[in-house]
Amino acid sequence: MYTSKITGLGSYVPENVVTNDDLSKVMDTNDAWIQERTGIKERRHIKKGDGNTTSVMGVKAAKIALERAALVPKDIDMIIFATLSPDMYFPGGGVQVQEALGMRTVPALDVRNQCSGFVYALSVADQFIKTGMYRHVLVIGSENHSGGLDFTTRGRGVSVIFGDGAGAAVVSRNETGNDGILSTHLHSEGKHKDELSLQGPSTQYWVPEIIEKNPQEDIPYYPYMNGTFVFKHAVVRFSEVIKEGLEANKLSVSDIDMLIPHQANLRISQYIQEKFKLPNDKVFNNIQKYGNTTAASIPIALTEAWELGKIKKGDLVVLAAFGSGFTWGSAIIRW
Ligand code: COA
Repeated sequence: MYTSKITGLGSYVPENVVTNDDLSKVMDTNDAWIQERTGIKERRHIKKGDGNTTSVMGVKAAKIALERAALVPKDIDMIIFATLSPDMYFPGGGVQVQEALGMRTVPALDVRNQCSGFVYALSVADQFIKTGMYRHVLVIGSENHSGGLDFTTRGRGVSVIFGDGAGAAVVSRNETGNDGILSTHLHSEGKHKDELSLQGPSTQYWVPEIIEKNPQEDIPYYPYMNGTFVFKHAVVRFSEVIKEGLEANKLSVSDIDMLIPHQANLRISQYIQEKFKLPNDKVFNNIQKYGNTTAASIPIALTEAWELGKIKKGDLVVLAAFGSGFTWGSAIIRW
């Protein structure tokens, strides 16, 4: 059996910076509340006319990842595209990437696991490579949140948190050694599906309802989040799934060189860091600049940490995610 490793990373965020003060001009919120509760200072939003969509941003991130992997689109054997904010209800973003990059007629799989989407997608890529079926898999997480958030005071508990952007990784067959993805660990608990959800654009509220009722009853068309409930579950599941991954590889917390948690909320990351007694240089956060970009948050953070030289060959890198579903997961990687 083969192993897989990440051979190229890339990210893209729209140029348009939206600060907390910018948000306070359109809703009743303020910089102090947002920073104290979430750590977020600013996020990026697609600007009308800048040409960006979820798939377009995914393609931009993918091009960088491919170049760094020294590959061209025709080398890729499979695309896995994770998002909760696709350009279209169907088809998904994967086929848009296939077309935009002029790829062979390779499989394009769309992953719907929200904040855990990238870890789920990475795990799928890892399995296809381990079995020998594929040599290079392109994994993308991309989100256009700003296109679907409620920017009135009613939506402030959700809308201040999320931002737009994309990250990508090329996952390749490991030809050289025992480094690469050591294991991945995935979970779900659907009984909490409503606690962080967007129910409107679905077959429950299908076209006639959108047309007839939306102007009055538009709440289901915006995301709902029970923030306190999500927070409490997130801190427990993050800890569990990191420990599960370490134990599966007979490793301990002291072996971690870099923990990259899904950028849900800086307070969640800090809670995990304190619980595991990890020093600041072993946990990477950039939610301060980008907000929570859901499926894109881990690949954006991983790319930035790598670009800053914070991840070196031989390091033990741990990715961990938790989000809507609830779903959660981890990936243990020897870089
Ligand atoms: N600006 C100002 N006030 C706001 C606000 C905003 N953007 N959003 C909510 N508030 C208000 C509420 O209306 C409430 O006011 P009230 O006390 O008068 O009713 C007050 O602030 C406290 O709201 P609450 O929701 O209890 O705050 P909180 O301390 O739980 O923080 C979150 C809210 C969302 C920041 C927090 O619950 C959280 O981060 N949860 C996890 C979210 C997450 O990680 N989601 C992604 C998962 S992948």
